[in-house]
Amino acid sequence: MKLWRDEFSIEAAHERYVARRQFGKFLVLTSFGMFVGNFWILARSYFRRDEVFSRSLIARASDIPKGGVKLFAYPGPQDPCILFHTHSDRYVAYSQKCTHLSCAVIPAADGQRIECPCHHGFFSIEDGRVLQGPPPRPLPRIVLDQRGDELWAVGVDLGSGAEPPAETKA
Ligand code: FES
Repeated sequence: MKLWRDEFSIEAAHERYVARRQFGKFLVLTSFGMFVGNFWILARSYFRRDEVFSRSLIARASDIPKGGVKLFAYPGPQDPCILFHTHSDRYVAYSQKCTHLSCAVIPAADGQRIECPCHHGFFSIEDGRVLQGPPPRPLPRIVLDQRGDELWAVGVDLGSGAEPPAETKA
């Protein structure tokens, strides 16, 4: 008998059953992985609601012109965020992680929306709500506190409505 028959001892006639079984295993494992991933995201969101956030100076308002943006990290160094000085003269900030699959969101070319370039998701620059595309939830808002020219991040609003408004008038 040839060596390859020893290594691959499956009869050719049964190949499609093996393939079907492997496909079934793949589906079960993928579904289980997605279930665990979603459960982890849910648990993390639940526990972050009670998190106590520190104050962090993120920018000087005078450094950001109307229509300008600034990237920063909050509440931790691994949490990218984006600050906007909107055309309506407000400061708003959001997590930069898209709520679909965590790609980094950026200002859209029209200057009026926030875009996720991965799957063409769009969010409102004014309140972070989903305008278009696959993202299932609004962007988490970074709660801001303006003291004179200083813009401070003081919390993260995951959408519970318990936090004060995120925006700060210029
Ligand atoms: S990751 Fe943002 S739309 Fe898919």
